[in-house]
Amino acid sequence: MKTKREEPFKMVATTFKGLEKVLAREIRELGGQKVRPLVRAVEFYGDTPLLYKTNLAAATALRILKPTAHLRNIRSVAVLYNKIYEIPWETFFHSRKRLWFNVSGMLDTIPDTLFVSQKTKDAIVDRFRDRFGHRPDVDKENPEVVINLHLFRNQITVSLDASGVPLFKRGYRTGAGEAPLNEVMAAGLVRLAKWRNDTHLIDPMTGSGTIPIEAALLASRTAPNLGRSFFSFMHWRDFRPRLLEEIQKELESRRVRPVEFLRIAGYDRDPAMIDIARQNAREAGVDEFVDWEVKNFFETRKIPGPVTLIFNPPYDKRLGLKSREGFYRRMAAHLNDAYRWATAWILSPGDLSSYMGRKPLARYRLLNGKIPVTFAGYSLD
Ligand SMILES: C[S@@+](CC[C@H](N)C(=O)[O-])C[C@H]1O[C@@H](n2cnc3c(N)ncnc32)[C@H](O)[C@@H]1O
Repeated sequence: MKTKREEPFKMVATTFKGLEKVLAREIRELGGQKVRPLVRAVEFYGDTPLLYKTNLAAATALRILKPTAHLRNIRSVAVLYNKIYEIPWETFFHSRKRLWFNVSGMLDTIPDTLFVSQKTKDAIVDRFRDRFGHRPDVDKENPEVVINLHLFRNQITVSLDASGVPLFKRGYRTGAGEAPLNEVMAAGLVRLAKWRNDTHLIDPMTGSGTIPIEAALLASRTAPNLGRSFFSFMHWRDFRPRLLEEIQKELESRRVRPVEFLRIAGYDRDPAMIDIARQNAREAGVDEFVDWEVKNFFETRKIPGPVTLIFNPPYDKRLGLKSREGFYRRMAAHLNDAYRWATAWILSPGDLSSYMGRKPLARYRLLNGKIPVTFAGYSLD
């Protein structure tokens, strides 16, 4: 498609704490310029094709934001209202769109965040009403346009949220166990472990299968949100449906079969979980690339060849674990005994190195939901 060359503009991709660097790498690989990891986010520059591409393909991004204004010196509610009112909202979207607001951070000057969000909404809808005689609706459940406010000291970064629905909602999760791992987190773990379809990958406690599914997406170079039909940018005035189609086709054409002789596998002792995992893999379009089996971890042994294990064992009472300590001790003993020469990456709330009796190759501190966790890799030599 021939169009005028667009000036690169700034975008911000948000992610979980600890995944900033892997996300920065993904964005660079997708063509982002001036890529800079921040805290729980990555700043980068690019054009509209990149904005669409990162939404479809960046596996460790939660949302892609397009900043539209940086407001300084928000001293009072009146200043807030006026500065938001002055933003030319009608150039970004039509007045009939359903809106919602996400707010992060806090203003020193107006600490009531809910109030800031309400005043922002008032200013936007008033501007539309004053100009067009009608106003956008506000709809929390099913918004079309999502506006993101990042508050810091007396400043606000106002962005359009290009994703709308967070990008971990890939659309493949039909069922989940009690503690499914977030898809973006699973994609991040596979990348932090530096797995690149160069060893067998096994998740021996796979639950709903998120880790093998995200690994299979990576190995088959499948953009995780290629099949998703909703992004907030589709409701912007500058939306280019033909461009989106072209990018979808381009990403589709990049798909490959993962290396044939390397297995990607998920095991769980609970047959109901394996049914769910298989169904999720089917929805994600990667079922033929993953082996699912009902197996008790303590009865498994390493398969021949190079093996990377990536898993998050159960870790609280809700999962029926009477003694976390005892479980970890047995698990570490079995890893050391039955998985010699494998590399095991484990996500757990505490440090397992004393159970493992060895120092980790690498260790990352992450947040799984609100729980601080450690992701550590052990070379079982
Ligand atoms: C925290 S969940 C894993 C969640 C998973 N990553 C997901 O995305 O859904 C832990 C899983 O370990 C399984 N599990 C517990 N003990 C096991 C054992 N001895 N062998 C195999 N699986 C086991 C449980 O059935 C549960 O599904």
